[in-house]
Amino acid sequence: MLDVLRASSFALVFALLSCRQNDDPEGAESLLEQVQADGYRSWARAPGYEARRASSAPHSDAVEIFVNDVVSTALASGPGLAEWPVGSIVVKDGYTDDGELELVAVMEKRDAGWYWAEYDADGTALYSGAPSICTDCHESGSDFVRAFPLP
Ligand code: HEC
Repeated sequence: MLDVLRASSFALVFALLSCRQNDDPEGAESLLEQVQADGYRSWARAPGYEARRASSAPHSDAVEIFVNDVVSTALASGPGLAEWPVGSIVVKDGYTDDGELELVAVMEKRDAGWYWAEYDADGTALYSGAPSICTDCHESGSDFVRAFPLP
């Protein structure tokens, strides 16, 4: 009986640890390198995010959100867009109240749908792939984007 309990608590601890869902660490690393090499902090800022502002998500106090040129072109394309085009990338820097960077989150629209990744301030991937923690909360967004709607 004790053994059974012990085995099931191991299983529970394992399940909790693996909830982080870093399913594609290498892919996440190369995506971060790509957006950093592209100087994402010099991209256009998302509509409504012209400056750092308080976050309405639970994972940071304040955020800055940047969009690549595919998203900028889509935003300028006028009303009626049903989904964000393949190639869209949105990057969110999350800061503490003290102004310390604490996370970087990236969404990239691929042929198969959105690819998700979140990193700590050192760029270590914590989540990657299509973690349900990301998709469940973002499902209510505009084709999964929470900060601003489709045009
Ligand atoms: C509990 C809800 C919630 C969860 C979980 C969540 N997000 Fe978000 N996310 C938001 C909200 C709300 C915003 C809008 C900006 C803000 O207020 O921070 C956002 C914004 C973003 C943005 C900027 C583009 C956009 O959609 O607005 C990215 C990129 C992002 N999240 C990535 C992720 C990733 C990657 C994960 C999983 C590791 C994740 N999010 C988990 C709520 C969530």
